[in-house]
Parts: sequence; structure tokens; C-alpha cells
Amino acid sequence: MVGAVDLLYRALYRFVLSRLPERASIAIGQWGLRHVPLDHLPIFRNDDPRLAITLGGVRLANPLILSSMYYDTAILRRAMGLGWGAVTAKSITPGPRPGHPEPTLVRIETAEGPGLVNCNGFKNPGLEAYRAALAGLPHRVPLIVAAAGEFAEDYVRVVEGLQEFGDLVELNISSPNTKLVYGWSTRPHELKDVFRAVRAATVKPVIVKISPDFRETNEEITIPAALDAGITIVNYGNTRRVDEPRLSQGTGGLSGPAIFATMLENVRRVRARFGDRLELIATGGIDSPERARQALEAGATACGIFTGFITRGPLLVRRILDALQGEKK
Ligand SMILES: Cc1cc2nc3c(=O)[nH]c(=O)nc-3n(C[C@H](O)[C@H](O)[C@H](O)COP(=O)(O)O)c2cc1C
Repeated sequence: MVGAVDLLYRALYRFVLSRLPERASIAIGQWGLRHVPLDHLPIFRNDDPRLAITLGGVRLANPLILSSMYYDTAILRRAMGLGWGAVTAKSITPGPRPGHPEPTLVRIETAEGPGLVNCNGFKNPGLEAYRAALAGLPHRVPLIVAAAGEFAEDYVRVVEGLQEFGDLVELNISSPNTKLVYGWSTRPHELKDVFRAVRAATVKPVIVKISPDFRETNEEITIPAALDAGITIVNYGNTRRVDEPRLSQGTGGLSGPAIFATMLENVRRVRARFGDRLELIATGGIDSPERARQALEAGATACGIFTGFITRGPLLVRRILDALQGEKK
């Protein structure tokens, strides 16, 4: 049954969604996620208790996390029933942002498989509106709320405002689509103040999401600063910045399996260097049970996934969990 439904989605993606203009397939995909009650179907889940992990002391039923992209709570609500161990909401800024002009997302075929390049630019409703939206979202699985900003005060404000609605809090200091956030890695010494201020502002476990584009800075400055401030979860990481003339900004963040190999090396190196002082979320190009297994074997505590959910379909989660369960037998 899982195989048949999986094949059906792959056919839908291959012959319909991947052939329509990106804006049309996003509209159809998001309409489906919002309105089709897939979350009522047990086929998407594997509830074997042996798959459970803890992240920052929070129990996740399994190590798969829907990575940050959706802010619509109707979608997040459905996603919570699609097998994930936790779901991440989009990075929120203090004020609303319209995002960059279209086109902001294109598909890309790479040697490693299908990916995306986006220059979304933090389209989001802003802190106050989002607090109201999150207030109505039941937590079927843990929710990770996410903050982005330009100044330490932005992160503190968003974290203070959203923390009551999240089980964990993620600091996005790495999206390549706006100078606002990407710039942090070019002035990493200022991050220690951000980390200290956020750590003091919440008792919730805090995750720092870093960029694959700044390996040395991450490992020499950013991660040690996070650990010094008492932040012990690292999400490695975000998209890789690439030129993409089809996008309105001429550049964007590459996601999908083309960034997997580097992500895997990053996770392996960071685990070897920092040992069990931190918990690690491996995000970037995980789109198969084999890639999830490799990330966990390299030292990841959990796997973040976004692009694979689109290109391989919602049953990817179940297929990965079944494979992980098989290894536990
Ligand atoms: C359209 C789009 C929007 C995204 N928005 C965010 C965001 O708001 N905050 C964030 O931290 N990451 C964001 N990401 C990055 C993903 O969460 C993830 O880190 C990245 O896509 C790499 O994982 P993947 O290869 O599994 O997609 C976005 C990615 C895409 C494709």
C-alpha cells in the first residue's frame, strides 16, 4: 500500500507538478496540503516507540523534522499528522515582510537529483499577526518556532513573542536570500551577544541554524559562541547561496540532494570536533531512506527535510521511518 501511494505521488510530481510553471505547482501543492485531510490517514505514520529521540530534552516520536518553510498554520496543522517527529514554522521577523518579487522559486535538475532554488526573502506576517495564528494551532507533534532578524533585539523580540507557542526555538542566522540574515556570518563576533540575549530570554531549548557557506566561521566562532552561551543544538543547515538568473534577485538558496554531500561532511566533522557537547540536526538534501541513514550515522541527532518532501512526496517520511525501524530489529 505504501509503495502504491508513493508511486502515485511520484507519477503526479513527474508528469504534472514538475511540468507546470513553479507558481502553479506551488499553488496546487499548498492547496492540497491545506485542504486534503491526508493527516487523518495512518499510512503516513510509523509509531514504533523505538524510533523516539529527545532533542533539547523534548521527546520527538522520531528523528525527522519538517524544516522551516511554511508559515500557514493550516498547512503546519496537516503536516503534524504526516509522520514527522517535529515540525518547524517559517522564520518570523518582528514586522511583516512581503518577501521578494516573483519569481522566488525555481526547480533545478542536478546530477544528484531534483532540487530547488529560492529567494523567498522572508515573506511572513510579522510577530504580532503570527502570535495570533499560532494561538489556534494544536500541537499534535512538537512545534519549532523560528526567528530571523538584523539585530540582537530582533531575535529577542521574536523569541519572547513566539516562545510560548513553540516547544523549541530556532534562530535563523543563515538564509542566503536577504542581507538581513546572511550578513551575520560575515560579522560572527557579534553573534555571541545575540546568543546570550536569546538564551536569557527563554527557557525553551534553542537551536542555531547555520549556513553551509561559512564552514570555518561556523566551526571556529559561531558554534563555540553558541556553546558558551548555553545553546547546545545546531542545525547544519540552511541552503547554499548560488547564482540563479531565473530568480528576481539573480541569486538564491540551493536546496535538495546537490547540497547533501557537503552537509554530510559538515555533520561528521562537527560531531568529531564537538563530541556530545551538542545535538545536531542534519538538514540539506535528505530525500531518501539511505541519505537519512547516512546523516544519522555521521552523527546527526535528527534530520531536517524540506525539498525531499516536495520532490519525493509526503510518503518519504514513512519510507525513511520504515527503513530506520528495520535497522532496529
Ligand atoms: C522556499 C523555501 C523557503 C525556505 N524558508 C526558510 C525559512 O524561512 N527559514 C529557514 O531557516 N530556512 C528556510 N528554508 C531552508 C530549509 O528549511 C532547509 O534548510 C533547506 O531547504 C535545506 O534542506 P532541504 O535540502 O531538505 O530542502 C527554505 C527553503 C525553501 C526551499
